[in-house]
Amino acid sequence: MADFGLKTVEWKDNSVIMIDQTKLPNELVYVKYTDFNDVATAIRNLVVRGAPAIGVSGAFGLALAALQSNASTKDQLISDLEKAKKILFDTRPTAVNLAWGLDQIMNVAKHGNTVDEIRQHVINTAKQMADDDIKINMTMGKHGSQLFDDNDTIMTHCNAGSLATVAYGTALGVIRATKESGKNIKVIATETRPVQQGSRLTAFELKHDGFDVSLIPDTAVGYTMANNLVNKVVVGADRVLRTGHVYNKIGTYQVALMAKQHGIPFYVAAPLSTFDMKSNPQDVIIEQRKGTEVTQIGDKKTAPDGINVINPAFDMTPPELISGIITEAGVAKPPFVESIPKLFEANK
Ligand code: MRU
Repeated sequence: MADFGLKTVEWKDNSVIMIDQTKLPNELVYVKYTDFNDVATAIRNLVVRGAPAIGVSGAFGLALAALQSNASTKDQLISDLEKAKKILFDTRPTAVNLAWGLDQIMNVAKHGNTVDEIRQHVINTAKQMADDDIKINMTMGKHGSQLFDDNDTIMTHCNAGSLATVAYGTALGVIRATKESGKNIKVIATETRPVQQGSRLTAFELKHDGFDVSLIPDTAVGYTMANNLVNKVVVGADRVLRTGHVYNKIGTYQVALMAKQHGIPFYVAAPLSTFDMKSNPQDVIIEQRKGTEVTQIGDKKTAPDGINVINPAFDMTPPELISGIITEAGVAKPPFVESIPKLFEANK
């Protein structure tokens, strides 16, 4: 095990290896895919999830599609890759990293000359994206760690850790880097109903890596804040707009509102690949997931048959609730309309 935590997704011997996150925390199982259609199904079914992890998985999916294609000309190969891109893109609509990863690969493919050259460039680029993800998270972690102090208890929601990225994590990367800088910290993880990324994944990952972590039900966020059991919050993001509107796992908005009420700083950690500088809030599609995620816990039914369910996977936290957005290019502070473009300038 590398010292930056679990390795969520990687390319090995012309195949994609992933941790099957649906099996956690009971079993740590790795799955192997050689067909891009299986990668698409894995993204849709949350075998792999978390914005940066699905960005890299999409890129690896296109690398498999390049190997699977029987094309003998560049045009045929590009056409096969476009078809695969659509299948991979249609899996999940909210996290912008998926589109980002797929576009990066298509761009490289279009610049290649021969079928063999394109295949090689696509694979190399996808592998490079995976390596870069870890480096970016570590840089982001260093920037973010300066916002946290010795003896802080930090709340996080959902899973923005190694398991949501290739490794190290975004929000949990900041928490890792804070601990690595010698500060003594504790973590509170919300369980994050309905799919339990907090209890199944964050609690698993932090415990696996030796952190002092406590799990709370989502409904105890107010209690822990009102009783001074938490003094900072850091979460990840699936999409950040140029205005500082942040889309993240359902429930994030409630945590941010509660933090504002109690004067607790609320930070977001996200790489620049999670920023969508073009869209407005009304353009962003919030993924709606199946009702059984709410009417059941695992296989056990917890609601009456035929009940109507509203099950959005993400919500939007408005900029006025956010104290800072941590990226690999530095920390953006309000007003975000001014500070976010500056980060992109600095990163050129
Ligand atoms: O539905 P998921 O599990 O893919 O949602 C993931 C989240 O909302 C994470 O908090 C977000 O992707 C940030 S991950 C670095």
